[in-house]
Amino acid sequence: MDILHISDIHFGPYHWSADDSLLLDRLNAFKADLVFNTGDQTSDSLQGEFEETRAFLSKLNCPNIVSIIGNHDKYSRRSHEMFREFIHDGQLIQPKDPSKVDKHKLFLDETKMNLDSYFTDVNYLRQIKVDGEDILLVCIDTALFQSDFGLMEEQILRSLADEMTKLTYDRALLLSHHPILSTDNDPLISSRRVTDFVLDQGIEAVFCGHTHEVDIVKLSDLVRGRGFRQFTSGSLSSANVSRDTNMFCTYENFGTPAEVITITRMTPTVDGLEFTETVVGR
Ligand SMILES: [Fe+2]
Repeated sequence: MDILHISDIHFGPYHWSADDSLLLDRLNAFKADLVFNTGDQTSDSLQGEFEETRAFLSKLNCPNIVSIIGNHDKYSRRSHEMFREFIHDGQLIQPKDPSKVDKHKLFLDETKMNLDSYFTDVNYLRQIKVDGEDILLVCIDTALFQSDFGLMEEQILRSLADEMTKLTYDRALLLSHHPILSTDNDPLISSRRVTDFVLDQGIEAVFCGHTHEVDIVKLSDLVRGRGFRQFTSGSLSSANVSRDTNMFCTYENFGTPAEVITITRMTPTVDGLEFTETVVGR
């Protein structure tokens, strides 16, 4: 299973000025089985930015592109509608007990506005077969409505856990815009509940974005005897990369002895893009 991990594309004012066609050529050269796009495809949750994202993703030569929502994608009351129209449409996970939700504006007030949907979270499960293995992708929405902080709703995690018990799969991976093991100035509040969920569900790895910096860490829970790895990719194509360059990550033969993890950093030059590869652990 070969995975291409991109994040924080940031169409709109935060998008870089480099030639995206050169970037797409490089991404397509990897020939990924799966593409994980871990959020912040927009700058300001505008429809034009979602449309640019759809056009960009449609040029990736991969049948399995999985995208999640990020904090920048949730600045609008219509964010979830646009995400579903332009990026991913499908069955969304509802809170197990809607009367107990604590996530701010999880439901918008339908008496005050005219929207197609009043439920603002985009959480879903997707099963994909790769090399004879059934891969379950748990796609969570950590973004808070009109905020850069993250919060994962406990009632959604309960519903996800219930749904997962009904499914048969070989490996489970989680996609979360906010990292769950590390923080920045806009962290995931109550990240413990997501960490517990990952450990309890036997999820093998977590793929994140948000910080615009690369970070690959391994957690070992010595009490429960479980662990997982978290892969945070920096921004693919943001103008805001003060602490690192733009980049993407590739994982060849993911989770096998033949695994090769490569960080490809990119710097715009006068006549194109310069690529620098770093193989992790070598
Ligand atoms: Fe971002």
